[in-house]
Amino acid sequence: MKSLDDLEVAGRTVLVRADFNVPLADGPHGSRVITDDGRIVAALPTLDFLRKQGARVVVVAHLGRAKGSAVPELSLAPVAQRLGEMLGADVPLVELEDAPAAVRALSPGGVLLLENIRFDPRETSKVAEERASLATDLAALADVYVSDGFGVVHRNQASVTDVARLLPSAAGRLVHKEASVFSGIMAEPARPFVVVLGGSKVSDKLGVIGNLITRVDRLLIGGGMAYTFLAAQGHEVGTSLLEADQIQTVAGFLKEAEERGVELLLPVDFVIADRFAADAQTRVVDADAIPEGWMGLDIGPRTREVFTSRIADAGTVVWNGPMGVFEMEPFSAGTLAVARAMAASDALTVIGGGDSAAAVRLLDVDESRFTHISTGGGASLEFLEGKSLPGLAVLEESA
Ligand code: 3PG
Repeated sequence: MKSLDDLEVAGRTVLVRADFNVPLADGPHGSRVITDDGRIVAALPTLDFLRKQGARVVVVAHLGRAKGSAVPELSLAPVAQRLGEMLGADVPLVELEDAPAAVRALSPGGVLLLENIRFDPRETSKVAEERASLATDLAALADVYVSDGFGVVHRNQASVTDVARLLPSAAGRLVHKEASVFSGIMAEPARPFVVVLGGSKVSDKLGVIGNLITRVDRLLIGGGMAYTFLAAQGHEVGTSLLEADQIQTVAGFLKEAEERGVELLLPVDFVIADRFAADAQTRVVDADAIPEGWMGLDIGPRTREVFTSRIADAGTVVWNGPMGVFEMEPFSAGTLAVARAMAASDALTVIGGGDSAAAVRLLDVDESRFTHISTGGGASLEFLEGKSLPGLAVLEESA
């Protein structure tokens, strides 16, 4: 895959696809404020490099799922403002139709941000010709294309794949780093290779489990998805999350793990609650003793110990998905224990994006202790599923 260093960028106009899909909350006077700017920070190495080379930079990004029409709350205005602060330069937010004139007005080293590209229905269209038409408009703005939105490389969309076929293209610093980390893990992980999976739905992780079970030494399972595994072993799970239609599939995973000699560890105890609330009544019970009417909302103290010890001697640890409802303090200890165990280990430690990355920040664990915290939730999961990601495959085509 070509990298930034293989592209001629000095003095040229460069179209950069970034992933600025950041979480926002309502601010004062109807404004929107960014609650986690990690994805903007992650784009800086590429943008700084291009500016130093005297390139004119046109950034294309999306926010939320606008479904092809302009949604004021999904404007990238707060991102343009924050990016400008980080770069110490004005970053104008420009509508696509005004972009040709705005690009001509850019000085060397100048950066502009196009308004949410998903306001244009052609971006996510399933019709190749429609995507190609937007890609042509985008390509007309620049001399070269840099793919740096790792969080969207699993999407076959105009600004991710189609435009890469129309201009000399390469991976930016972020995409390059993310892709190297994940391919390294999949090709030659330092062993023991331990994967910790959590999150609410086992149905979201079937592909990942199916692929990883053939590669890992240990699979540690917590979070809402654990209850379907417990049910597959014949235990009652009270009112805990349960995907009854997945019990058969999960039973198949238990059997396959045993046949392959993969250590598949399920929680041995839980923190349970009488309702889904931070001030609910709570108890700690063994995994096979969840009473009727109670729900498991976190792994219990003995499980925390077991998981911590099974992470401690790992060569590689990949984590995706919280162990419990970490946003509520009484149910955050399991997620915190996994984050701390990884932070304390000398293994190559990788956090898939999304909720686990948010948990590390919310629970105040030292981010610098992890080898890599991915910016891509869906993209990193698809990588771990062993799928070919269209936004990366297209960069190989132009290699
Ligand atoms: C993400 O937040 O994972 C990426 O920005 C992709 O967003 P999408 O799932 O709406 O395509």
